[in-house]
Amino acid sequence: MKLSFLLNGRPTEVDCEAQETLAEVLRARLDLTGTKVSCEVQVCGACTVLVDGLPVSACTLLAYEVRDRSVLTVEGLARPDGSLHPIQQAFIDEFAFQCGFCTPGMIMATKALLDDNPKPTDDEIIHFMDGNICRCTGYVPIVRAIKRAAAQIQQEKGK
Ligand code: FES
Ligand code: FES
Repeated sequence: MKLSFLLNGRPTEVDCEAQETLAEVLRARLDLTGTKVSCEVQVCGACTVLVDGLPVSACTLLAYEVRDRSVLTVEGLARPDGSLHPIQQAFIDEFAFQCGFCTPGMIMATKALLDDNPKPTDDEIIHFMDGNICRCTGYVPIVRAIKRAAAQIQQEKGK
């Protein structure tokens, strides 16, 4: 079937099978391998992307369910001039990854969090991010990165 949707701000059309997941279509058909796949059962958050601004697990969402909707992946976060999004930069600045496998999903979940709640408390961050598993960092630097990104975004907005 032909699937038409908005991908990282661009109208996109791709052939896919009815049973293919969004993660499979992104990675195998559109070469967007930033979205990682680990558990494949909606437990780890590695495959998190935003659909119409909300975080979803691309490993269990059938691709055809995003027809005519807007999908944002980690590849769509960088600024038009190629500079990193403040969330991406904050993860680097706070050393909030080791193997990096969870990182794209963490970053996309953070985007959803900060879009909805620009100044989250530590508890709100921990609660919101509990669907994203990291086997390496112990989470402390991830929480620091999210707070740093929130502050940077607020600063850019002049608040
Ligand atoms: S790979 Fe999708 S939630 Fe784990
Ligand atoms: S950095 Fe390795 S799983 Fe999170």
